Amino acid sequence: MPALVIIGAQWGDEGKGKVTDFLSREADFVVRFQGGDNAGHTVVTGGVEYKLFLLPSGIFWPNVTCVLGNGMVIDPAVLLDEMDRLRAGGHSTDRVRVSHAAHVVLPYHRAIEEAEEDRLGEGKIGTTRRGIGPAYLDKYARIGIRIGDLLDSGVLSEKLKANVAYKNMLLERVYDREGFSAGQLIDEYLGYGERLRPYVTDTSLLLDGALRDGKNVLFEGAQGTMLEIDYGTYPYVTSSYTTAGGACAGSGVGPTRIDAVIGVIKAFTSRVGNGPFPSELHDETGQYIRRKGKEYGTRTGRPRRMGWLDTVALKTAARINGFNWVAITKLDTLAGLPSVKICTGYRFSGRVTTVAPASTADLARCEAVYEEFKGWNEAELKRARAYAELPAGVRAYVEAVEEAIGVEARLIGTGQDRTEVVIKGDIGFGQA
Ligand code: IMP
Repeated sequence: MPALVIIGAQWGDEGKGKVTDFLSREADFVVRFQGGDNAGHTVVTGGVEYKLFLLPSGIFWPNVTCVLGNGMVIDPAVLLDEMDRLRAGGHSTDRVRVSHAAHVVLPYHRAIEEAEEDRLGEGKIGTTRRGIGPAYLDKYARIGIRIGDLLDSGVLSEKLKANVAYKNMLLERVYDREGFSAGQLIDEYLGYGERLRPYVTDTSLLLDGALRDGKNVLFEGAQGTMLEIDYGTYPYVTSSYTTAGGACAGSGVGPTRIDAVIGVIKAFTSRVGNGPFPSELHDETGQYIRRKGKEYGTRTGRPRRMGWLDTVALKTAARINGFNWVAITKLDTLAGLPSVKICTGYRFSGRVTTVAPASTADLARCEAVYEEFKGWNEAELKRARAYAELPAGVRAYVEAVEEAIGVEARLIGTGQDRTEVVIKGDIGFGQA
């Protein structure tokens, strides 16, 4: 029975939410395993748009248990608010489960991140300022507060007092900012703990039981491969393992239990925040794609930087994640352009390479080399129900991607709605 991992192949915002939602119709569990509310997944169902920051996209299917795994950093106020909003819209949150070992994002994490990003000025990373990096920093410094701690007033008081004393020193003496009151935070976070208590459990144990019972489990990556802490464009990355390996460590499930890894590729490239981007578009075409694709940060509202599809970066993603197959999304956004381009190589040190340099500084020196394709018509694209019915330009584009990365595309996204999908190959399960 399948345990599938879904991973963003680029810099995030590839349309993973839609792919997960589509595959979730036959899933029993959908698991998030890293990141926090820096992620923003948009799902459109029945014409209504929902933005999810912490909950997996599977929340909209009544039989799916949604797991927030140990690899996550969770702001409980954001989680509870998200659950309240869903309930208000008539969606049940009874099947949410939160790992006792996930880490808690606290207000001092956000305050420290604000202070540090402001201090860096031009040289900042351009984070979402949700406190994600500082929360992971505490995790690895072994001073972090875990979700399970919110359920134990003695442990929480002791840990928060020690942390607040330390963080206040940093905020007040180093950054000249206001500190926090430990007493207030203890009361507030014990309150969150009480509200979250029914949902908190050992999610590794839960998933082990599910896999033993032959349940279908989807692991939903957040952000994307190029934002991964080791293989992304460091230091312009997020602080977690956004790649397939992270699914195991971040959920307490062993690698031998995973059946397939699916990459999600957006038909063009976007990134928010700073860092090198060889196929970036600074012209009107970039603005057209941004407007048409509503390419503004789900979390921050920032206009995303836009560019052509980059198969050099995608090859790296295919290698690191070991994709079994890929989904290509948002082909409709490119519709209407007379021609579209794919970056097939980088010009670097006087020669063209199809292997991305290991150094971020070298990547910033690379110049994109393109192949051009004939554009396609939106009405024709939207009418297609089968791969053969897709416009010829789309098929040529998809096949060029497949050839460049050596991985088959099996799902093609032709629009934002959950029904706007063409199945090209065997997707294992989730088939309508
Ligand atoms: P952080 O994750 O807030 O620390 O931000 C680090 C980098 O990751 C910044 O460039 C962010 O813009 C980027 N980032 C974080 N989450 C997302 C996401 O869900 N989509 C796209 N970019 C993201």
